[in-house]
Amino acid sequence: MKNKTIIILLLVCTVLLGFTTNNYFLITKKDVELNVPKGFPKPNYKFKNNKLTPEIFTLGRKLFYDPILSKDSTISCSSCHQRLAAFGHFDHPLSHGINGLIGKRNVPALQNLIWKDTYMWDGGVNNLEVQPISPITNPVEMNESLAGVIEKLKHNKEYAEEFRVAFKDTNITSEQLLKALAQFTGLMISVDSRYDKYMKGEDTFSNSEKIGLELFRAKCASCHEEPLFTDNLYRNNGLRPDTSLKDKGRGAVTGVEFDEYKFKVPTLRNVERTYPYMHDGRLRKLKDVLDYYGSPENFQPNAAKEMYEIGKLSAQEKTDIIAFLLTLSDKTFLYDRRFVDPFMK
Ligand code: HEC
Ligand code: HEC
Repeated sequence: MKNKTIIILLLVCTVLLGFTTNNYFLITKKDVELNVPKGFPKPNYKFKNNKLTPEIFTLGRKLFYDPILSKDSTISCSSCHQRLAAFGHFDHPLSHGINGLIGKRNVPALQNLIWKDTYMWDGGVNNLEVQPISPITNPVEMNESLAGVIEKLKHNKEYAEEFRVAFKDTNITSEQLLKALAQFTGLMISVDSRYDKYMKGEDTFSNSEKIGLELFRAKCASCHEEPLFTDNLYRNNGLRPDTSLKDKGRGAVTGVEFDEYKFKVPTLRNVERTYPYMHDGRLRKLKDVLDYYGSPENFQPNAAKEMYEIGKLSAQEKTDIIAFLLTLSDKTFLYDRRFVDPFMK
């Protein structure tokens, strides 16, 4: 008996020691394996010509957290994309960039990006690798140029070495910068929420969560399609245009009147953390979202027909749908050590 206790104590100590001495920030080959779970569609971005390696991913992680990417070295990708908000921005309806400038859209969560074929609320960008050019060069976000970033990186001894090791090349190029960022953001994958476990028979739902799922399937899933919780299309969910922002959404990209005021259907994974909601962050809480969806009289006339199929929602229905939405929180993703700020080392 005594011996057993000692052995158990020793085991606990080894595990604890392992945690502290093992390099928490070390990325291994296994860390950069792409595992697409059963039931998920094939990803659109396949890391073709950008083979996942621990070195490139590690470099992408550092770049993502480094304000060196902005003109005055004050804003990093992570200033706006916060890990514990599923890489959205807690409490900020509109994005906040360089010199305190306010953007015109809400920071979207970054997750399951490899399944997308277009990015941004209006689909204005169609490739995960070129996406960072937009924030880097946007005058209200980072206000830098790619050439400017590359110059700064070249003069930084650590980066010069890290790029050389990652890409086996003594020259730093913008292509390498973009590939490294794509490896980091591309592996931000959320597939292990309670909902996912429930679907695999590994977890149970309360009654309210079960009813919520049924209601969700009847009223919301036509746009927020499982398992990604988006059909990746642009839709008009009835929000009245904001008269000061004058954001025409998809219409401004295609120039087609029919597309005006349509926005990308966002995923609802980790929706508990991605408040405030909608492209302009106008709704603060999930309760506000459900109040909105349950009041067809508030929709603008061009709302998609699916919006009118929702109908009025009772207080109980709203509660059940919210209970279900909360099962989409994915702690495996939110607390994944691979995505923690390496500058905290
Ligand atoms: C000033 C805040 C800000 C900074 C800094 C910023 N972003 Fe963003 N990001 C946004 C906003 C706002 C959007 C949505 C833009 C739109 O729809 O027009 C966005 C969109 C994205 C998207 C598309 C997500 C999707 O689902 O369509 C990706 C990917 C992304 N950002 C990655 C990055 C990376 C990588 C960096 C650093 C190089 C970065 N962002 C820096 C605010 C920011
Ligand atoms: C016609 C398609 C459609 C239907 C049906 C629909 N949605 Fe949406 N949903 C959207 C679109 C489009 C947006 C983004 C709109 C915007 O930002 O302007 C959105 C945004 C959201 C958001 C905000 C997410 C974020 O991160 O900002 C939540 C939450 C949401 N929907 C929940 C629901 C629920 C719950 C239902 C069912 C009661 C539902 N939706 C039905 C299309 C739809």
